Amino acid sequence: MERAKAAAAQAWAPYSRYPVGAALRAGGRIFTGCNVENASYGLTACAERVAAWSAVAAGARDFGELAVFVPGEVAAPPCGACLQVLAEFAAADLPVRVSCPGGKRLDTTLRALLTAPFALRR
Ligand code: THU
Repeated sequence: MERAKAAAAQAWAPYSRYPVGAALRAGGRIFTGCNVENASYGLTACAERVAAWSAVAAGARDFGELAVFVPGEVAAPPCGACLQVLAEFAAADLPVRVSCPGGKRLDTTLRALLTAPFALRR
């Protein structure tokens, strides 16, 4: 969570003013990400996906644990798009922990947040 909080300080979020940091344990390392917004709003990348792509780009495909630091008073979980990306490289019991300056915490799993990930076949 410390790494997620530090990553949030790198966020580029001038439009939403909602800086997010993520830290993903994979391949014995921790990969971090922050949200990166764009003047063309729809091009924005979430912190969780930046961390996931960074891990995969380094050859780490075995996601083991995710920590996310969000601003404000609500420990909001990762968005649905990020959950689907995580599901590609994580077991359903991936621990997902969210923290915020307000002190609230969310300690849950990928399975609890995304009950039915898309798959080409089961
Ligand atoms: N955001 C994330 O980084 N992760 C999420 O799971 C949801 C939202 C970012 C996108 C945008 O830059 C800002 O938070 C507000 O939506």
